[in-house]
Amino acid sequence: MNESAGKDLEALSVGLDEAARAVEAIFDRYLPPDEGPAAAVGQAVRHSLVGGKRVRPYVVRLAAESFGLSPAAVTPTACAFELIHTATLIHDDLPAVDDADLRRGRPSCHVAFGEPTAILAGDALIVAAFDALASQAEEPATPAERVALVIHEFASAVQAVILGEHVDIIGEGLPPSADLLDFIHRHKTAALFVGAARAGALLAGASEEDLRTLSDYAQAVGLLFQVTDDLLDVEGSSEELGKPVGADLAAGKQTYPGVYGAEEAKRRAETLAQQAYNAAERLPARQELWKALVWLILERRS
Ligand code: IPE
Ligand code: IPE
Ligand code: MG
Ligand code: MG
Ligand code: MG
Repeated sequence: MNESAGKDLEALSVGLDEAARAVEAIFDRYLPPDEGPAAAVGQAVRHSLVGGKRVRPYVVRLAAESFGLSPAAVTPTACAFELIHTATLIHDDLPAVDDADLRRGRPSCHVAFGEPTAILAGDALIVAAFDALASQAEEPATPAERVALVIHEFASAVQAVILGEHVDIIGEGLPPSADLLDFIHRHKTAALFVGAARAGALLAGASEEDLRTLSDYAQAVGLLFQVTDDLLDVEGSSEELGKPVGADLAAGKQTYPGVYGAEEAKRRAETLAQQAYNAAERLPARQELWKALVWLILERRS
């Protein structure tokens, strides 16, 4: 790695920390109480929000910054993406879905709080996410009509995740299928990356052309993120990942290594990284950080 790439990765790491701190500081505004008769729901959502790389909030903030808006101005929207992402993780881990007992290095929500509470905690986070989105309208730098666009964008991204999760489950045990795999990865994972990038850019008033370029970038990076997730399920460690490994194979999931084999999956990861890189070069600003994010995801161990 050359010196400037090292510096870019350092700047990316600082940006991820800043995004984490910014969203964590306002989670409480949107969460149910953790005391009183329903305390367990509030405790369960807080339990599940601990940890996490905060990549999606970072993408929202970097997109805003790339089109001239301060990252701080889009913190409620960045927060909404982390809240919804965490909701999907809680529901994804349930016994009826992936039946995973470890998440973010701690017992999964249903293991710690029981299944009924985990279902409600996921629901509470979905509602909290929309509350956070609505509160973006209180920010003077982001006019209400842009916030409304973002709410539509957000809802369609989340709907895509739901469809992706559905096909992920019904695809278990079916013969390996490149078409199913493509549908699953685009919907369950890439859609939220695309939504996060577009949300930040829409709030900043980016042009249609810039939005298209950013969508191309986020689509490639989102797919890359899930390809590396699939590979880490085979080759990663539970300690580093903070979640179980080997679960996809055991469940007969449609995955990149399952459909293409590990070597071809890695080649496809490289191709997606290159596509994202090329799109980053067409962005008007912060190209170095968009590129560093590609590299980080390609090489990630957690
Ligand atoms: C896990 O997402 C779910 C996938 C889409 C693979 P992350 O790997 O971003 O999980 P956290 O937020 O860091 O825990
Ligand atoms: C994640 O898919 C997509 C979600 C919408 C949660 P996975 O099931 O592969 O995610 P992990 O591996 O449990 O984090
Ligand atoms: Mg899953
Ligand atoms: Mg899972
Ligand atoms: Mg996985």
